[in-house]
Amino acid sequence: MVMIGFTLAVLVVIAHPDDETLFSGFLHALTHKLNASVDLVCITNGEGGFQHSAPSESLYGSLQLSNETIARQHLPRIRKQELLGSGKILGIRKYFFYDQIDLKYDRDVENVLSKQWNKELIIQLLEQTITTGNGQQGYNLMLVMLPSVQSHGHHTASGLLALETIKRLRDKQLDEMKLPIVIGGSEFVLSDRPIYSLNSLAETSAEFRFYRKWKLSSSSEISDYQMIVLWVCGEHKSQGGLIAETLTLLARDNEQYFYFTLNNNTQKFRMINTLFKQLTDMHDYDSGNML
Ligand SMILES: *[C@@H]1O[C@H](CO)[C@@H](O)[C@H](O)[C@H]1NC(C)=O
Ligand SMILES: *[C@@H]1O[C@H](CO)[C@@H](O)[C@H](O)[C@H]1NC(C)=O
Ligand SMILES: *[C@@H]1O[C@H](CO)[C@@H](O)[C@H](O)[C@H]1NC(C)=O
Repeated sequence: MVMIGFTLAVLVVIAHPDDETLFSGFLHALTHKLNASVDLVCITNGEGGFQHSAPSESLYGSLQLSNETIARQHLPRIRKQELLGSGKILGIRKYFFYDQIDLKYDRDVENVLSKQWNKELIIQLLEQTITTGNGQQGYNLMLVMLPSVQSHGHHTASGLLALETIKRLRDKQLDEMKLPIVIGGSEFVLSDRPIYSLNSLAETSAEFRFYRKWKLSSSSEISDYQMIVLWVCGEHKSQGGLIAETLTLLARDNEQYFYFTLNNNTQKFRMINTLFKQLTDMHDYDSGNML
């Protein structure tokens, strides 16, 4: 198998326990096909997800999870467990829970950063995770949620804070090659390259795709990465509505990843290009390119 030459260390930054489902094909392939180490930062504690929780009450000691007060006490624990279940399928190695309050849905990122989260604390934690989470080697790649004005403000804010952290680490003159390459995964199906005019850190220059229709292996007749998507969604039972949404409104044949111009490094661009080409090639079983 052609490899990019070393074991990839990847850091994924999501806002809520379940956002990782959006990237499940790519993450599964990274760990299962490329032996990558994938660690995950989850910024909020997910306590705001109570609207979706009613159908799962009987699974969780008949706690009345549709009641906001009760749910806010119990969902942080329940949703962490669900994320660990999903992460087991995806092969996640380490988790960093930042436990910011998941107050409510708000598309306005400024509101999220001023009224809900502690922005400076998150950047400080991200700096720490990026520089020490994988020991001396650091991370090669960081996957964040692509900022979008249509998105949940928490999603966009998590991506922007991760980008801001990279910018600050660079300003501190950290060794450029120790900084991870940053790409953004889109939660929506996009036909054009995304434009997020509110923050220039979010500017992108190239798109890469991971196809969920790819089969997991040449010998399997039916199983493709859509099966992995179903598996991980099924782990988040307290988020019943999410499962329906991921399989309907957000259903898609491919996952779209965008390269941020912030990376500003030819060698890094070549690495990402090679990575996605390898993933494409190794799933092209017909051409005899088997594992
Ligand atoms: C997989 O990666 C680990 C380090 O994360 C390494 O120790 C191991 O040798 C690798 N295995 C293969 C088959 O490359
Ligand atoms: C929710 O639970 C709290 C705490 O048990 C209780 O005081 C409140 O009345 C409940 N609210 C509803 C709408 O049932
Ligand atoms: C990219 O890096 C070059 C120098 O390496 C610098 O002159 C340029 O301003 C940078 N561009 C961006 C968008 O950061």
